[in-house]
Amino acid sequence: MIGKVIVSVASVLLVVGVAIGVVAVVKNNHETPLTPQMKAVQAICQSTTDKASCVKTLEPANTDDPNKLIKAFMLATQDALTKSYNFTGQTEASVSNSTANGPTNKAVLEYCKRVFTYALEDLKSVLEEMGEDLEQTGSKLDQLKQWLTGVFVYQSSCLDDIEDADLRKMMAEGIADSQILTSNAIDIFSTVVTSMAELGLAKNGTISLPGAPAGRRLLEEAETAEGGIPTWMSGADRKLLAKAGRGGAAPRIRPTYVVAKDGSGQFKTVGQAVNACPNKNPGRCIIYIKAGVYREQVIIPKSKNNIFMFGDGARKTIITYNRSVKLSPATTTSLSGTVQVESEGFMAKYIGFKNTAGPMGHQAVAIRVNGDRAAIFNCRFDGYQDTLYVNNGRQFYRNCVVSGTVDFIFGKSATVIQNSLIVVRKGNPGQYNTVTADGNEKGFNVKIGIVLQNCRIVPDRKLSPERLKVASYLGRPWKKFSTTIVMNTEIGDLIRPEGWMIWEGESFHKSCKYIEYNNRGPGANTARRVNWAKVARVGSEVNGFTVANWLGPVQWLQATGVPFTLGL
Ligand SMILES: *[C@@H]1O[C@H](CO)[C@@H](O)[C@H](O)[C@H]1NC(C)=O
Ligand SMILES: *[C@@H]1O[C@H](CO)[C@@H](O)[C@H](O)[C@H]1NC(C)=O
Ligand SMILES: *[C@@H]1O[C@H](CO)[C@@H](O)[C@H](O)[C@H]1NC(C)=O
Ligand SMILES: *[C@@H]1O[C@H](CO)[C@@H](O)[C@H](O)[C@H]1NC(C)=O
Repeated sequence: MIGKVIVSVASVLLVVGVAIGVVAVVKNNHETPLTPQMKAVQAICQSTTDKASCVKTLEPANTDDPNKLIKAFMLATQDALTKSYNFTGQTEASVSNSTANGPTNKAVLEYCKRVFTYALEDLKSVLEEMGEDLEQTGSKLDQLKQWLTGVFVYQSSCLDDIEDADLRKMMAEGIADSQILTSNAIDIFSTVVTSMAELGLAKNGTISLPGAPAGRRLLEEAETAEGGIPTWMSGADRKLLAKAGRGGAAPRIRPTYVVAKDGSGQFKTVGQAVNACPNKNPGRCIIYIKAGVYREQVIIPKSKNNIFMFGDGARKTIITYNRSVKLSPATTTSLSGTVQVESEGFMAKYIGFKNTAGPMGHQAVAIRVNGDRAAIFNCRFDGYQDTLYVNNGRQFYRNCVVSGTVDFIFGKSATVIQNSLIVVRKGNPGQYNTVTADGNEKGFNVKIGIVLQNCRIVPDRKLSPERLKVASYLGRPWKKFSTTIVMNTEIGDLIRPEGWMIWEGESFHKSCKYIEYNNRGPGANTARRVNWAKVARVGSEVNGFTVANWLGPVQWLQATGVPFTLGL
């Protein structure tokens, strides 16, 4: 970590130095010397995935000021996103509802339009928060990167939801531009903006420059993150979690709303209580759901942030539905979710979430969490294929039970699942099971990946007698940079000795990141693992995937030991 800090501060000075023309060494393929603007553009675009697009985007900007150039880049990204949104709307209008795929295509494009509005909203937040001087980004950097990651994820989630191959191709072409610009924006933020922020802090004397002793603290803090609860949770939220009802006992906190089937609360359905919560709420909206089976789909819109719902126990308060891709009309993976959380700051405790479509329904999500900073405790998620969709953002689960068959923990988020029971079930005849399917499509400069820590992976009662006949794997890579870590976990003998499975018809497994560390149990023997998965021998190899590091904003800044406000 010390080395990393030094390298990155050194690269700051280099990159920013180049950008602002202090250091005039830029590789030049042209005969003529580069203009100051083009030098700065080259420096900013150096690390981007699509360099040609980056340079083309910045060429018209008439400046060599990196702040102005990066601002111009973000405005161009906003413009491209607006075009993609418009394109989606036009495409939707052109789809006939009366063809076989019509209703599903209309429904998915409707959803795509919705996620493009999320993308535009989060990009607007980045533009507002980044300010005029990127050297002053300071502690906001993590949140800005998180939002940008989301802007990328929303777009790819839209495409992944489209089942109709022709429509998917058409949409992929139509929104390619905004995807490329967003991807490049992420690269610019992970290199140049990060460097500028570090430089600003160094100038302010907040961090020490290379050579000074630093870094040790971070490693230690990362390993001992308090009770496993991420630091982005405020003290007030920690207390709230501790006080929330306990398996039938009367709640010891005052909920904003009570939901009860028997009419003893303000509402009889969860959806009504969600709608009653304020928009853009700076505080918490607390919903107590009394014991009972609530048969409904609950959509929590992006505007309804900071909702905390708790029940009387994961087997007593149950939210259940049966929407699925195969058996329900006009349904995609995203739309199948019994509970769909589109908002930031969601918390839940003592609730069971179910999708009862069964294995014949194929994709049938019990909960889909699409907002940053979600924390879920003592809950159950029961389904078959695609039970727990950790769609986007930073997500933390503890003391939960997750059951399913194919890809039943999947998504494009930074997720840590701790101290939980992972239950593999029996699917359709001939079907194999995969516990995880991470969808990192961007690369290793974003935090997208699933971490299972201190869990137990077991078969359910029905699978148990056949567990050696039905093939079960720890996971398979959904996308090119899929990232999955299984550590300190007990792995039952149901998991095949190969451990992991490739995605059918794909060959990108070699570029993925699959790591096992310090697991136990008969399924944990790594002697016959696939050669593209890695076995970590020392903790430092997986240190980046602890709660403190993977779910930041605990970051290198804390290595200095200087007090620093990490919240927004
Ligand atoms: C998107 O559509 C709106 C409304 O039709 C239009 O005003 C706007 O100029 C379009 N934006 C882009 C970037 O195409
Ligand atoms: C498409 O048709 C379905 C029924 O087949 C209907 O429920 C839905 O409202 C229609 N959608 C539009 C946008 O017309
Ligand atoms: C640097 O110091 C100035 C003046 O004290 C302060 O306003 C600014 O927020 C600081 N910037 C960072 C990144 O800490
Ligand atoms: C979902 O459950 C309802 C009520 O039990 C049932 O009528 C319906 O057919 C089910 N739908 C699907 C798609 O399985």
